[in-house]
Amino acid sequence: MVNSYRIAWYNAVHLLLPGLNSMTVAIYPGTFDPITYGHMDIVKRAAGLFDQVIVAVAAYSGKQTLFSVPERVTLIQQALAGLSQVTVLAFDNLLVDFAKVQQASIIIRGLRAVSDLDYEFQLARMNQQLADGLETLFLMPAEQYAYLSSTLIREVARLHGDIDAFVHPAVASAMRTKFKE
Ligand code: COA
Repeated sequence: MVNSYRIAWYNAVHLLLPGLNSMTVAIYPGTFDPITYGHMDIVKRAAGLFDQVIVAVAAYSGKQTLFSVPERVTLIQQALAGLSQVTVLAFDNLLVDFAKVQQASIIIRGLRAVSDLDYEFQLARMNQQLADGLETLFLMPAEQYAYLSSTLIREVARLHGDIDAFVHPAVASAMRTKFKE
């Protein structure tokens, strides 16, 4: 009885104040070639802050990639399975245009070290110029992931080193397959 009263009250308040129903969508863009435990740590932090997080896989980031866009999307979906408010989408246009279509109001970027700041500042400033109001929020991964980069992990895998500490098992397995091909 008390519960159904509470639910009715909650529904009434949300119908009367539509602003309370609006969800905050954050977008986490990247090349993710491949997704690492560092990226996953950022996604989990973002999921704790926002209603919905879109991991946006860039088809165009100016990088020659090991994995195709569909392969990267599938690997991210496998790595992040179980995070219900996270969706993974690919995009091939300007990030700010994609964010607008997705009704995202926040861009998430990870900062591993001070050395990331120069590039990230440039990116954030350009995005701000292109779409004022779309805010960039920087999150720090846990310290143990501060040295990770997709390039280094690809290099270790290419030379048949152990990558299990850096990437999800599905990613590790896909990399082993790639470098056997
Ligand atoms: N853990 C581990 N590694 C991390 C990390 C973390 N938390 N955060 C960043 N990195 C690494 C990545 O692995 C990557 O390493 P790599 O260079 O060895 O591949 C590097 O840091 C940064 O890459 P990533 O986070 O994938 O971002 P990016 O710089 O490749 O992405 C885009 C750039 C996709 C956001 C940008 O190119 C873009 O927006 N493109 C769309 C087109 C567009 O709008 N362009 C105009 C932009 S102003």
